[in-house]
Amino acid sequence: MIWLWCLALLLILIVLIFLVEEFFNLIFRGYAPFVSSKNNVLDEAVSQFLSLDLPDNAKIYELGCGRAGFLRRLEKATKNQTEYKLVGVELIFPVYLLAKLQLLLVGSKIKIVRKNFLKMSLKDVDCFYCYLDGPTMARLSLKLKKEAKPGTILISNQFELPGYDPIEEIQVGPTQRLRIYKL
Ligand SMILES: C[S@@+](CC[C@H](N)C(=O)[O-])C[C@H]1O[C@@H](n2cnc3c(N)ncnc32)[C@H](O)[C@@H]1O
Repeated sequence: MIWLWCLALLLILIVLIFLVEEFFNLIFRGYAPFVSSKNNVLDEAVSQFLSLDLPDNAKIYELGCGRAGFLRRLEKATKNQTEYKLVGVELIFPVYLLAKLQLLLVGSKIKIVRKNFLKMSLKDVDCFYCYLDGPTMARLSLKLKKEAKPGTILISNQFELPGYDPIEEIQVGPTQRLRIYKL
């Protein structure tokens, strides 16, 4: 019985940490909240990614990965066909933990790191996927202008990347839009 109480306390603690971190990120840092991309958008993003025909060993980052929906779909779609290096970056600890656990359970090779992507090196990446918000995209744009290698692809769910023109815009359903950029 005592272990049930411990488990309940642990779950409450994890939820509290999530709420505090999310509040802090939203109010004081102005970062995008935790909302998952819709399935139809992820399907279209993976299909657009595959049409780009990137090299087999390409490095692909999901920035603010949440539960790493894009990377998981991509891994499934390319199983045993490529050697893509798939990396998800997430700042909120409980979300990072959830993604790690889910990937561990399915034996995935996706790597999840708990970092602020605005404070880590984004050099040598071949493709980014992100679903953020306007202010975070503006900050990301400044960073990519300095760091990204020319030709890097960025697929954005919904939000524009200031300072760049998309090479393609795809309407997905009535309200969703994917924007593809070549940096
Ligand atoms: C809208 S959600 C998108 C989740 C996932 N990529 C998807 O498309 O389903 C944005 C995520 O980015 C994370 N995030 C926002 N700013 C971040 C930053 N600077 N560094 C790392 N993660 C960040 C949030 O915690 C949140 O989980």
